[in-house]
Amino acid sequence: MSTTDHQPGTDLGTGHHQPSIEAVDKGNPGNFRVQWAVVDDINVDLASIVATVAALASVVFLRAPLPIAGLGLAAIVLPLRLLLPRSKPPSGTALITGASSGIGAELSYVMANKGHDLILVGRDREQLDNVRSNIQKLGKDRSVHVIDTDLSVPGAAQGLYNKVTADGHQVEVLVNGAGLGAAGDVLEQPIELSERMITLNCTALVQLTQLFGRDMAKRQRGWILQISSVGGWIASPHHNLYHASKHFVRAFSEALSVELRGYPGVVNTQLMPGPTHTQFITRAHADETTMMTWSGSVEDPKVVAQAGYRGLSTGKRMVFSSWNAAMSATLLQLAPRSVHLTLAALMNSPLRGMAKTEPPLKDQTKRAPEKDG
Ligand SMILES: NC(=O)c1ccc[n+]([C@@H]2O[C@H](COP(=O)([O-])OP(=O)(O)OC[C@H]3O[C@@H](n4cnc5c(N)ncnc54)[C@H](OP(=O)(O)O)[C@@H]3O)[C@@H](O)[C@H]2O)c1
Repeated sequence: MSTTDHQPGTDLGTGHHQPSIEAVDKGNPGNFRVQWAVVDDINVDLASIVATVAALASVVFLRAPLPIAGLGLAAIVLPLRLLLPRSKPPSGTALITGASSGIGAELSYVMANKGHDLILVGRDREQLDNVRSNIQKLGKDRSVHVIDTDLSVPGAAQGLYNKVTADGHQVEVLVNGAGLGAAGDVLEQPIELSERMITLNCTALVQLTQLFGRDMAKRQRGWILQISSVGGWIASPHHNLYHASKHFVRAFSEALSVELRGYPGVVNTQLMPGPTHTQFITRAHADETTMMTWSGSVEDPKVVAQAGYRGLSTGKRMVFSSWNAAMSATLLQLAPRSVHLTLAALMNSPLRGMAKTEPPLKDQTKRAPEKDG
């Protein structure tokens, strides 16, 4: 296990330190590990799209009978989807940021049930201890460590990595779950809040991925779950910066999944929840918006956590928490931008006392997770 502080520009294979300015000047060619011929869900999707276009073209231009084209398409796509090997399900110690409440706490229960030892990270020590005690009540004999730290300050991710490795832990699964939102107009928000949000939602997530990801790449074994959001698909007036930060996470995570083709054994999955009934809503002061009060669209964090773990276990590059979340993201993506922006502004507008979300669960002592399996 490595306890070295990794620096930008350090070559993973050789340990050779390359100053970042040199890397920029030289185009950093040594650090590209481009891979194309890989069986992953990107290539399976790509092959499915090419086969579909070819089947349609054969019907339109070559007058091929529709049933024959359909059968040909099924003969290519079904084996690809059903028979090709999936990555191994995750195992080993999992570090979960944002484990003191909401989706992160629920993921802690799911992962304890699935056999992981856990390192739970958040700021609220009392709630972290409550999650740990709930896990112990499952009677699964897991080792659970808690670390309270504020990841919204510069250098916190490196500090967390240093502590975890100095304590002798080997993190096999990283869940980047800690996140913060803030409803309102960006010009009205304190600069300090914006800075903390970007540091927590983006910088800490990237740095933890780099630090723990490099160790995983060296061991050729590891799993990373990035919690982004349906908001990563929506430009959101009145919840602007949060959704912009999730656009960053989505782009980062999708591109990382391609880069990881060059680092066999490491899986990166992005979980995209829709509006979920957690403290996030009240903390972001979004409990009086159309998006959050429209009860049909607000999801149970337990179900969201299960969807994320399933996606990670099957090596998916991205997974929505529900059909509702997938449909919202897809339709808003397809809509003309003027429609998109108007709908997003409506969804994030305050209802000024007309409706309010039920307060979400705060105290994890009120949550009694069930033993699974
Ligand atoms: N709820 C939604 O509608 C929704 C929708 C899409 C995506 N998401 C994303 O899902 C993730 C989990 O959110 P949630 O819904 O479960 O909300 P939550 O219950 O408020 O959980 C947020 C977690 O992040 C931690 N956290 C917040 N600020 C932190 C900081 N400065 N340093 C370290 N940890 C910090 C919190 O820990 P402490 O309280 O101990 O600081 C808490 O454990 C977030 O990334 C969020 O953006 C949420």
